[in-house]
Amino acid sequence: MRNIVLVGFMGTGKSTVAAVLAQQLDWKRVDLDTSIEEAEGATIPQLFADQGEPYFRKAETEALRRELEGRSGQVVATGGGAVLAEENRDIMLANGLVVALTADVETIVSRVQNDPNRPLLRGNAGKSVPELLERRRHAYDFAHVKIDTTNKTVEQIAAEIVDCGSTR
Ligand code: S3P
Repeated sequence: MRNIVLVGFMGTGKSTVAAVLAQQLDWKRVDLDTSIEEAEGATIPQLFADQGEPYFRKAETEALRRELEGRSGQVVATGGGAVLAEENRDIMLANGLVVALTADVETIVSRVQNDPNRPLLRGNAGKSVPELLERRRHAYDFAHVKIDTTNKTVEQIAAEIVDCGSTR
């Protein structure tokens, strides 16, 4: 596998797991949201507010291509909605092992509720997380592997991913 691509709902630990995994494997860590922010010269909340979500989604597809195509040895943490476009799913599947991280709804709410940087939650995670989770119920099913992160340490999750990678 050329890259490991972490997908999953907001608050499932993609960025944290990517950091630990990249260090363990001595691979490069790429955070897709950071890549978008650097390319656009604006933060995610600014992009949503000033340009709108469709613009952000286009920038997200461009970032996926830029970071994944023709590259290897990277752990890429994607944003929770990066899986919504079929084009994006195809880019991910063609360029690495796609690992979906999951967590139960209470865990997700507790992880994201005080974070002002997630515009889709509109400052009300208790209401918006269950609604959005329901809408995205099958959005992560395309991944090669699914790992539940609830009550696990980052190290445990990283070890599970390495195991999956070595048997594929
Ligand atoms: C989004 C998730 C965010 C970020 C943007 C949209 C989504 O990333 O890309 O706010 O649609 O779920 P995280 O999953 O890292 O919070």
